[in-house]
Amino acid sequence: MTSETTATRAGLLALPFETRELATEHLRLRPLTRADLEHRSENYQKRSDVVRYLRWEAHDHEEPAENLEKRIALERLTRNGDGLIFAVELCATDGSTDHRVIGDISLSVKSDRDAQVEIGWVFHPAVHGRGFATEAAKALLAVAFDELGAHRVYAELDAANEASARLCDILGMTREATLRERDHVDGDWHDVAIFGLLEREFRAPNAE
Ligand SMILES: CC(C)(COP(=O)(O)OP(=O)(O)OC[C@H]1O[C@@H](n2cnc3c(N)ncnc32)[C@H](O)[C@@H]1OP(=O)(O)O)[C@@H](O)C(=O)NCCC(=O)NCCS
Repeated sequence: MTSETTATRAGLLALPFETRELATEHLRLRPLTRADLEHRSENYQKRSDVVRYLRWEAHDHEEPAENLEKRIALERLTRNGDGLIFAVELCATDGSTDHRVIGDISLSVKSDRDAQVEIGWVFHPAVHGRGFATEAAKALLAVAFDELGAHRVYAELDAANEASARLCDILGMTREATLRERDHVDGDWHDVAIFGLLEREFRAPNAE
């Protein structure tokens, strides 16, 4: 989408928006499929160290089958509340097509009228710290701003989630707010941090 088109549509997202595959230097981002169900036993989302800070509905702690079914259906954005979930595959280095799923990453429409989009991510601990979440998130931010016409993309995270906060920093997001004791999880109150990135900050990261 050109900036002129974006300006014309200011305050509105380019809906409907269909999911598609994305390729980055080391990764393939593809819509989550039913075949992903077959790998549930080794699903990284079952691990307590992975789900510790997860709050949003698509990553329920127990991840019952119907949830994953619901997630798989989330592949077309038409209205507020819709989301796109991408399985992130690490491309094989031997030229084969035997790619390994190392995480997932999502975009969801929070307000079409105000062009507000939420981003979320979960990666397998075996690959943490290798830059893959950063690489995937950058690709998805480009989709959000260039194709979907987002004005602001934000992430909500447990305020204690240092890895996620660091990822937000790397992406150029600003810590906009801390919502004190917004979540009650396993008997404890947790603060929630909101990080946001505006379209103009995405286009000119060092301008402000
Ligand atoms: C948040 C998460 C996606 C980051 O994934 P990742 O693959 O480690 O990310 P990257 O390799 O791209 O690294 C991003 C930055 O985070 C840093 N980081 C990674 N793990 C960290 C940790 N435990 N504590 C502090 N910083 C950490 C990396 O060092 C890197 O910063 P640097 O470039 O300055 O070194 C991953 O930790 C995760 O899936 N966590 C569990 C699920 C979760 O909490 N999701 C977020 C819900 S809002």
